[in-house]
Amino acid sequence: MRTPVIAGNWKMHKTAAEALSFVDEVKRTTLPADVEAVLCAPYLALPALAEATQGTDIGIGAQNVHWEEQGAYTGEVSVPMLKAAGVQYVIIGHSERRAYFAETDETVNKKTRAALDGGLTPIVCVGETLAEREADKTKEVVQTQVKAACAGLSSAEMKRTIIAYEPVWAIGTGKASTAADAEEVCAFIRKTVADLYDQQVANEVRIQYGGSVKPENIRSFMAEPNIDGALVGGAALKADSFIQLVQAAS
Ligand code: G3P
Repeated sequence: MRTPVIAGNWKMHKTAAEALSFVDEVKRTTLPADVEAVLCAPYLALPALAEATQGTDIGIGAQNVHWEEQGAYTGEVSVPMLKAAGVQYVIIGHSERRAYFAETDETVNKKTRAALDGGLTPIVCVGETLAEREADKTKEVVQTQVKAACAGLSSAEMKRTIIAYEPVWAIGTGKASTAADAEEVCAFIRKTVADLYDQQVANEVRIQYGGSVKPENIRSFMAEPNIDGALVGGAALKADSFIQLVQAAS
């Protein structure tokens, strides 16, 4: 009932030219129609990517956004600018942005609000650090992050929001969560949404797992009832591997 969404997060990789050659390769394959495939690229590659994917089912996402529409915010990019460039999704609150760029639950909420107001689909990242997991605080941390990110959203807005559960210790380490552990947290996130809204809203929200997902392990995550796709870093940098990930989610 929920369309799975596989999003590649290229992080700070790929020039516009490299992005275009990736898309050329993907376009030679017919991707399954029952999976939403999204490429989240660096800002400078977005206009070219949006143009090259016109008429395809590949969605384009940014990796960050500012909540103001315009103004004296040196170095920032706004929702209307992303929209004008043909972008449809935006990753918000990735743990790298929380850790290195002072992103807080409050800014995550402002950005989510702005993305929804401007017609973008936010992919809101939550997840615990290793220390938090070892202190048995995973659920507490994730619940706090989800509640803060979604504060003030209407039911309709919540349904349009994608939540990505990315345990920080699993990102880029090759040590993915087990599917069972990821399912437990994703089910808990769905319950948190049900408590905040209602079961119907919770049933519609898509929840991804992220952290060392690759073609070899994606099926185990997709087999879980509360995992509706993946947010993928390293394994989404090569077109053939991205194609395999999307196919495996079908
Ligand atoms: O946003 C995706 C990401 O943080 C996971 O990265 O390289 O572990 O798939 P990776």
